Amino acid sequence: MTEQTQTPSPKKLFIKTYGCQMNVYDSDRMRDVLKPLGYTPTDAPDDADLVVLNTCHIREKATEKVFSELGQLKRMKSASGGKMTIAVAGCVAQAEGAEIMRRQPAVDLVLGPQSYHKLPEMIAKVARQTGDVLETEFDVQEKFDALPIKRDADGMSALVSIQEGCDKFCTFCVVPYTRGAEFSRSVDTIVAEVRGLAAQGVKEITLLGQNVNAFHGAAPAGENGEWGLGQLLRHLAKIGGLERLRFTTSHPKDMDDDLISAYGELDVLMPYFHLPVQAGSNRVLKAMNRSHTAESYIETMRKVREQRPDVALASDFIVGFPGETDEDFEATMDLVREVKYASAYSFKYSRRPGTPGAEMFGQVDEAVKDERLQRLQALIREQTTEFNQQQVGRTLPVLFTHNGKLEGQALGKSPYLQSVHVENAQHLIGKIVDVEIVGATLSSLTGVLSTK
Ligand code: 5AD
Ligand code: SF4
Repeated sequence: MTEQTQTPSPKKLFIKTYGCQMNVYDSDRMRDVLKPLGYTPTDAPDDADLVVLNTCHIREKATEKVFSELGQLKRMKSASGGKMTIAVAGCVAQAEGAEIMRRQPAVDLVLGPQSYHKLPEMIAKVARQTGDVLETEFDVQEKFDALPIKRDADGMSALVSIQEGCDKFCTFCVVPYTRGAEFSRSVDTIVAEVRGLAAQGVKEITLLGQNVNAFHGAAPAGENGEWGLGQLLRHLAKIGGLERLRFTTSHPKDMDDDLISAYGELDVLMPYFHLPVQAGSNRVLKAMNRSHTAESYIETMRKVREQRPDVALASDFIVGFPGETDEDFEATMDLVREVKYASAYSFKYSRRPGTPGAEMFGQVDEAVKDERLQRLQALIREQTTEFNQQQVGRTLPVLFTHNGKLEGQALGKSPYLQSVHVENAQHLIGKIVDVEIVGATLSSLTGVLSTK
């Protein structure tokens, strides 16, 4: 008897990703698990058999966007004669799964961030019109065990999730509720994933985690105990072909000396460090349950700079947390002036249902939040522009990743994560090449191929 292998019929998949890089990674892995079912990516939702919205719940606006997007998808689904399957994944799905099913009947399935390895099985249930199609379990171990470690590389840079979830419970943040408790993958599975990517020509790896520097993965087979992020970075740095390592996002409390000294030791560890502080007032930091002070944060940044004098520093800020006074806000401005950032993200405090901050007294007026945000962003823009202009005249190694908008132009990334535009460089895509920086704006650098 000959065994017949069935080739699945070709289907089109459209995934829209909101929010952080963890979601970008998760969307990639969803594409991987759906490939054996015959799904190939498309750029047009109306052309898709399966549409997945991979959602973000971090701020109110992000959540609202999901519901408005679902309204549009509903119309496309009707136009397709109901052929389209609509899935909502990610953190809104985790937090509001039942509500989504109730508010938008066009949605066929809802799955939280720890459940996307179950997508094939859930799609089968939708097709059979049986069973429960809401999956919001928290078993992150099961997810990583179920996902294939072998991945197809897509370009020169790749994201690798090494840690998920958070036990810190900052009082403004939904992550501990949507992503669950802190979990680290084992060193062996991470190394295998990174090796596989490097073997396919990936030059730059960004290690991801909601609290990436809290990483404490099981040591490699044959060794007892756990490894921290510093140890993991030293090990990954030896993998042939890998030229750039990054990690994001860190928490000040988990910055140990071992990790800081890795900055002084490892050339492949890029001189860019994102360490969110959120606010500069110790009173606000306490109310946020951040378990660090402005002073301890500044000291950490000083130590990193001591190890790596050329490091570019980045942060996240929240303005208008409940109880934040003008004086507290000025402390944030002072901290920014003292640290001097290459870049930073800043947000108005957004009241998230279920978090302690949402119930606190002293909610700040929207108009006050607006004004503070504008002032903070103006200061950060100044610092970013200054940092970018400091690169003019320097020669930087640039990893070329994409075609630019102009004929012959290529786009790449500097070690400091700046976008760099270079003419007549499209033949260099995929390579790291020295570029002489000749111009700088707030958002990017321009360079010419170095003749030195
Ligand atoms: N409101 C505003 N910003 C928030 N962030 C997290 N939760 C909130 C909230 N409720 C910001 C923090 C965090 C980044 C990912 O999003 O600055 O570091
Ligand atoms: Fe949210 Fe704080 Fe955890 Fe970061 S450390 S994910 S801000 S709770």
